[in-house]
Amino acid sequence: MLKEKIELITAQGLEAIEKASVSSELNDIRVKYLGKAGEITALLKSLKDVPPQEKPAIGKLVNDVRVKIESALQAKMQAMAIAERKAIEEKERLDVTLSTKEEEQGALHPLTLVKNDMLNIFIGLGFSVADGPEIEYTKYNFENLNIPQDHPARDFGDSFYISPEILLRTQTSCVQARVMEETKPPIRIVCPGKVYRPDDDATHSPMFQQIEGLVVDEHITLADLKGTLEEFAKKFFSKETKVRFRPSYFPFTEPSVEVDLSCAMCGGKGCRLCKGTGWIELLGAGVVNPAVLDMCGIDSKKYSGYAFGVGVERATMIKYSIPDMRLLFDNDVRYSKQFK
Ligand code: PHE
Repeated sequence: MLKEKIELITAQGLEAIEKASVSSELNDIRVKYLGKAGEITALLKSLKDVPPQEKPAIGKLVNDVRVKIESALQAKMQAMAIAERKAIEEKERLDVTLSTKEEEQGALHPLTLVKNDMLNIFIGLGFSVADGPEIEYTKYNFENLNIPQDHPARDFGDSFYISPEILLRTQTSCVQARVMEETKPPIRIVCPGKVYRPDDDATHSPMFQQIEGLVVDEHITLADLKGTLEEFAKKFFSKETKVRFRPSYFPFTEPSVEVDLSCAMCGGKGCRLCKGTGWIELLGAGVVNPAVLDMCGIDSKKYSGYAFGVGVERATMIKYSIPDMRLLFDNDVRYSKQFK
């Protein structure tokens, strides 16, 4: 009787294991047969009622069924784990030979690159970098720079006014007025920043950037200005670049000069870029007008200075022979990319 029961349990157990398709089923089977109240456990317990002479044989049978069920469970468990792993691998398979999508790396805008280049040259020449507001009082943009009320540059049409006393600065020269008011000489600064004028064509934009330079100390002359700008031009453009001063006029400098560079394209012979002159106009500069020094609280009998203002867009256009300033503001990545 017991023997048949054992055979039945063995057959049923092995069949159930065979049929199981998920590991939770195997767990249930383990509990059903080998658990505390399991069928094989019950068989083991019932051994005590078996007559002593039959005990070894029956005991062996019970033990065999236990071993069979246990090893069948284990084998099925392993097979299932392998199958599951395979299924996951199949589903999450990575094809490492597949070509990847190329990521574009960002870069600084050409005007930022050029501005940084220019600043670094001046820093190398001993200048420090100063800053000033873009929304400015007319006092700093005009009055303290010796631009009186009736000066043509103060026309409402030439500037973006916010109120009669406040405007978007038209030049970074207002920073020299501010710095001189706050600092005692020696002064040696460059101030980069945006300026605003209502012009808009191929060589003018309503917003553009300038770098203003200011040096104030004892015995500063036009020769110091020339030496500094020559050094700058050689570093920024090329060793062959020559610098030429032409007389000009700015209310805040006296004398004032327009600074030209020898044309890099033709080496000074004359070409389309320099309109046949061999020279390209780069910036305005001059010796600080003593009246400006006095207005800004610096003793013009003891100190003198020079100032210059250079357009970042203009310098970029000259350096890279760019025909239209708007190319720099269109933000067409295909264009900007070339400057990386
Ligand atoms: N601020 C002048 C301009 O915008 C340039 C300049 C700066 C000239 C400093 C002389 C001295 O045109």
